Amino acid sequence: MRVHLLLLLTMCSAVLVASVAGTRSYSLRGEWRVRSGNGSLELPGMVPGCVHSALLQQGLIQDPYYRFNDLNYRWISLDNWTYSIEFKTPLNISKWQKVNLIFEGVDTVSSILFNNVTIGKTDNMFIRYSFDITSIIRDVNSIELHFQSAVSYAAQQSKAHTRYEVPPNCPPPVQKGECHVNFIRKEQCSFSWDWGPSFPTQGIWKDVRIEAFNICHLNYFTFSPKYDSTAQEWNLEIESSFDVVSSKPVGGRVTIAIPKLQTEQTYNIELQHGERIVELVVKINKNIAVETWWPHGHGNQTGYNMTILFELDGGLNIENSAKVYFRTVELVEEPIKGSPGLSFYFRINGFPIFLKGSNWIPADSFQDRVTSDVLRLLLQSVVDANMNALRVWGGGIYEQDEFYALCDELGIMVWQDFLFASALYPADQRFLDSVRTEVVHQVRRLKSHPSIIIWSGNNENEAALMMDWFLINPLHLKIYIKDYVTLYVKNIRELVLAGDTSRPFIPSSPTNGAQTMAEGGVSHNPNSNHYGDVHFYNYICDCWNWMVFPKARFVSEYGYQSWPSFSTLEKVSSKNDWSYNSKFSLHRQHHKGGNKEMLHQAKFHFKLPQSTDPLRKFKDTIYLTQVTQAQCVKTETEFYLRSRSEIVGGKGHSMGALYWQLNDIWQAPSWASLEYGGKWKMLHYFAQRFFAPLLPVGFEDRDVFHVYGVSDLHTDCNATLTVRVHTWSSLEPLCSLVMGPFVIKAGQAVPLYKEPVRKLLGCGNCTRKSCVLSFYLSTERKLFSPTNYHFLSSPKDAVGLLKAQITANITQQGDTFVFDLETSAVAPFVWLDVGSIPGRFSDNGFLMTEKTRTVLFYPWKPTSKRELEQSLHVTSLTDIY
Ligand SMILES: *[C@@H]1O[C@H](CO)[C@@H](O)[C@H](O)[C@H]1NC(C)=O
Ligand SMILES: *[C@@H]1O[C@H](CO)[C@@H](O)[C@H](O)[C@H]1NC(C)=O
Ligand SMILES: *[C@@H]1O[C@H](CO)[C@@H](O)[C@H](O)[C@H]1NC(C)=O
Ligand SMILES: *[C@@H]1O[C@H](CO)[C@@H](O)[C@H](O)[C@H]1NC(C)=O
Ligand SMILES: *[C@@H]1O[C@H](CO)[C@@H](O)[C@H](O)[C@H]1NC(C)=O
Ligand SMILES: *[C@@H]1O[C@H](CO)[C@@H](O)[C@H](O)[C@H]1NC(C)=O
Ligand SMILES: *[C@@H]1O[C@H](CO)[C@@H](O)[C@H](O)[C@H]1NC(C)=O
Ligand SMILES: *[C@@H]1O[C@H](CO)[C@@H](O)[C@H](O)[C@H]1NC(C)=O
Ligand SMILES: *[C@@H]1O[C@H](CO)[C@@H](O)[C@H](O)[C@H]1NC(C)=O
Repeated sequence: MRVHLLLLLTMCSAVLVASVAGTRSYSLRGEWRVRSGNGSLELPGMVPGCVHSALLQQGLIQDPYYRFNDLNYRWISLDNWTYSIEFKTPLNISKWQKVNLIFEGVDTVSSILFNNVTIGKTDNMFIRYSFDITSIIRDVNSIELHFQSAVSYAAQQSKAHTRYEVPPNCPPPVQKGECHVNFIRKEQCSFSWDWGPSFPTQGIWKDVRIEAFNICHLNYFTFSPKYDSTAQEWNLEIESSFDVVSSKPVGGRVTIAIPKLQTEQTYNIELQHGERIVELVVKINKNIAVETWWPHGHGNQTGYNMTILFELDGGLNIENSAKVYFRTVELVEEPIKGSPGLSFYFRINGFPIFLKGSNWIPADSFQDRVTSDVLRLLLQSVVDANMNALRVWGGGIYEQDEFYALCDELGIMVWQDFLFASALYPADQRFLDSVRTEVVHQVRRLKSHPSIIIWSGNNENEAALMMDWFLINPLHLKIYIKDYVTLYVKNIRELVLAGDTSRPFIPSSPTNGAQTMAEGGVSHNPNSNHYGDVHFYNYICDCWNWMVFPKARFVSEYGYQSWPSFSTLEKVSSKNDWSYNSKFSLHRQHHKGGNKEMLHQAKFHFKLPQSTDPLRKFKDTIYLTQVTQAQCVKTETEFYLRSRSEIVGGKGHSMGALYWQLNDIWQAPSWASLEYGGKWKMLHYFAQRFFAPLLPVGFEDRDVFHVYGVSDLHTDCNATLTVRVHTWSSLEPLCSLVMGPFVIKAGQAVPLYKEPVRKLLGCGNCTRKSCVLSFYLSTERKLFSPTNYHFLSSPKDAVGLLKAQITANITQQGDTFVFDLETSAVAPFVWLDVGSIPGRFSDNGFLMTEKTRTVLFYPWKPTSKRELEQSLHVTSLTDIY
């Protein structure tokens, strides 16, 4: 089946020159009618949108995220709903040769009637559907979409697959989800995940419109810049697709112009009747220096305006514009001296880059709530935390165009999974055909974005298969492997390589990359430290012990849970819910044993909250889970960062750290560093520090304290290292050692300093329990690293730690607020919380070793000094004892 596509980045508004030529577009966004299966409910519903949102907007249900509503509203997803609309055609139908009805996205299973005629069916929410309605459109028309519950459809499909099971059948009971999601091409986490609720939505989730045209119509155009290193020039490959209805060939010319690069080229084209693809290569003027697109922290995100003008017979002009960015990406997999296996790192514009970042999940169960403001806020927080990369995880969706446009603009590299996650999948022809259409569509839609630097076939399915997560019948292993290779290697990979040669493809994450391919598409151990990427989780061992972590080439998932702040939970709970072991707290935890694991990890180093006031104790526990998570992910990330340039015991050259997970889909405990609504957890502030371009990493190895300098700078730098020994009982450092300057090479992690802990303690005349270390780097160019610290004992054993009285004096300065803090004692994990006032601090969750410190607050909505003063709550570690 040929699929018609929407243009990316820009509007595709064909300019109507003569009344007989060109395209007229009529939007069907807006209010439709929504009806439940037996007609007992009938209500208006917005398109794009879904049934849940329509019910909520009409006041027929409460906030679906409130308390236990995910279970209360299960009936919505189990019913079969109908969307309908009647409209008068604004076009004079007799004037148009062809009329199409186009859905950019239908969620998910429906049969579509136009004027009572069935025009087609849908069963894949990631496909664009186009239906020819030329012969049935009238002056007054009706459209009906008869949806089938995604849950009942998935069950039917699974039942029909009789030869062997395709596990898992159902999610673990703790997730309170629906079964057989692997049988439907729909957002996989919409049937629940270990951080998210089950809301299998129904609706028309993207744009819908009618397009009428004469002579010919531009379906899509897409492009990709390629660097020809022999000729040392950029070529821009452009592909456009036309639907030509004229019986005579349509001639004309196409002009592509990039004014800033003094590039303009004109080609003659002739289009025959039918679907036609036009491929052009534009050579970029060699005399003008092309500024390349760089990831955040490595340079500018320069892009160039391009226009493309088709001037066709009959006065038909079609003009489009788009932003073109130039960059190259290579995935380097080559032997490393002293280490078995292959490297696994990215070179952007020829420069090796360490990927620092996190994993992206859908920002809401109801996509109609994900506005461009929501996306901008979350993605701005990504770069504000010094990240340069996100992995768009395979259990979610191919994100909106706006998401990728923002990543282009902000310099966020995107690792894009195809949407298959943590399961085995069917590979019958019908399923494959649907996936093939999906892949071709999505690759075309997204490939012009420089931010996407890699495609990955799925999330964890190779590991699930080869490490036997689902205890499959060994007799069937061969079939499962064959199905796996058929789906990801023989279909998805081939389609991606045919449609896009401008970025690499790996069949899964984690995978062994080239080694996986050498083994025929599946590796016996896809999580090897010597090849490709790994995912790593361990909630049992003490996370302050870096020896727990894998010295792998690239870690694309790792993390620890925490609870979101009280102000976030308060919005979806009531008084009875506010304790750590309430029914609500258990209900929201979708990871088995998760709440216990958080306390288990906390207890290694901290005293558990002692307050006799239940609410205080709940809030303190939330705080402690955030401290624990931040400290765990810090230790782990710093281990990966410092493993960048060394091989130890045959392992190392780590070039990526993407922790699980960036954002939340609702208000619940999870691995996220950003809460639902965008509030920064303590981990996000930690990330801002540990992902800084210049960072000193401290750790202990057999009672010797080491400091590495980690640089993401493009030039070598001379840095001075300052190490301070503080006693818990005094705001004056006991001693301060200044060392260097050291040369820290560009893009390297190098050992700078080591000293037996005993000697450091001697300098301060103190003990492990009474002292703590802080350290930072400074360069001649006055560039400072964040101040890092190292605990010499668990804070629960600290001697001399006093209750700190911390006061804040708030003043307004333009759009920001200045918080002048003053403490009476050294205070670990100082946490400033202004409740539900949206915004973020310049720093938070820090160790306060000096009497005063100034922190800025950047509000996301107008607020006042008064409001901030009233909401501010300052917590540090001793407050919870
Ligand atoms: C219609 O369906 C709803 C939801 O499934 C159900 O609660 C209701 O009883 C049904 N009404 C009739 C009249 O069958
Ligand atoms: C929804 O439609 C499916 C398929 O036609 C049917 O099996 C199921 O019973 C319907 N569900 C309800 C609640 O009507
Ligand atoms: C529609 O177009 C046809 C053919 O051009 C013309 O005869 C007719 O009058 C038009 N009708 C209206 C309502 O404009
Ligand atoms: C659609 O078909 C139904 C039953 O076949 C009929 O009752 C109805 O009037 C038709 N509607 C239109 C707009 O033709
Ligand atoms: C980035 O852009 C700024 C402002 O346009 C310019 O001054 C600077 O030279 C650019 N940097 C690079 C590396 O191109
Ligand atoms: C590029 O295009 C955008 C959007 O059309 C426009 O706002 C901007 O001014 C253009 N820039 C230049 C340099 O022409
Ligand atoms: C570092 O400092 C030394 C001595 O001060 C100087 O010779 C050298 O050029 C500097 N290197 C860099 C990269 O700035
Ligand atoms: C070191 O500490 C001991 C015991 O607290 C004290 O007696 C001694 O004077 C201290 N020495 C220095 C140099 O501060
Ligand atoms: C708060 O800061 C302002 C401005 O710096 C200053 O005038 C004022 O005295 C401070 N107040 C307190 C209580 O420290």
